[in-house]
Amino acid sequence: MKHLLKMMDLSKEEIIDILNLADQLKYELKHGIPHTHLKGKSLGMIFQKASTRTRVSFETGMYQLGGYPLFLSASELQIGRGEPVQDTARVLSRYIDGIMIRTFDQQEVEDLAAYGSIPVINGLTDFSHPCQVLADLMTIREYKGSFDGLKMCYIGDGNNMANSLTVGGLKVGMEVSVACPKGYQPHESVLEFAKGYDCFTLTDNPEEAAKDADVVITDVWASMGKEDEIIERKKAFKGYQVNDDIMSLAKPDAIVLHCLPAHREEEITTKVLEEHADEIFEEAENRLHAQKAVMVMLMGGK
Ligand code: CP
Ligand code: NVA
Repeated sequence: MKHLLKMMDLSKEEIIDILNLADQLKYELKHGIPHTHLKGKSLGMIFQKASTRTRVSFETGMYQLGGYPLFLSASELQIGRGEPVQDTARVLSRYIDGIMIRTFDQQEVEDLAAYGSIPVINGLTDFSHPCQVLADLMTIREYKGSFDGLKMCYIGDGNNMANSLTVGGLKVGMEVSVACPKGYQPHESVLEFAKGYDCFTLTDNPEEAAKDADVVITDVWASMGKEDEIIERKKAFKGYQVNDDIMSLAKPDAIVLHCLPAHREEEITTKVLEEHADEIFEEAENRLHAQKAVMVMLMGGK
């Protein structure tokens, strides 16, 4: 593994290795065991979009690993004035040891990796959010013990989260059921990938997706960059809410995940979110541990 660009690039074994190391780093952090695997290394973090969790967890994670995080706002980099990503990649490769980037176009992340000579980590694009899904898988395994025999359902927009959850969930061996309105389905490359799995279902019926689910996941109806579509999206996603009716169809011990930020009373009710706050905020915490594992594996010679 040279980069973390999208879930599709990872094998099941690589995913499990990341999760195992993340569990170990979480244990070490909680028990005060130092793990400064990235002493003397620096990570550049390029943000073209807003962030709370990704920025703070990468920055803190790098610090805990003994390294140095540099926050690079795209609007203050020359990239924001049109310097090509291909040149930025080659320049940054001469100063730092890894790049995390949050941007719109997946191709920009792929180009950064292709032209640079240091590991690149995708901190969210319109297409994928692999760091979040690694944290989600870590949380699922923590609550359920293993992935065997689990049904994961995703209800809502066929966005970066739907794309990455579908691929990640199938790779680790879960049944995956996705409910999206027509016109808002996951990316065609993801549907093509999922075709190879009998345990994948795509439906426009949230009740069908939620039936007997062990894990219920949703995300905002209008992702970053799509905010101006919110009026039409509110119409299209009516009925695609994780609420008590949906939860009554899932298994009684089902957990609920949400990458956050959440829009209460849109994709999830306040009641469901608060009843499942333990899982949802553990999931947010696990961003830190999962990303530290990714950084150690990519930048620490492991
Ligand atoms: N879930 C997530 O990526 O959150 P941020 O946008 O706050 O980084
Ligand atoms: N789908 C959301 C995820 C935010 C973490 C977005 O892209 O805005």
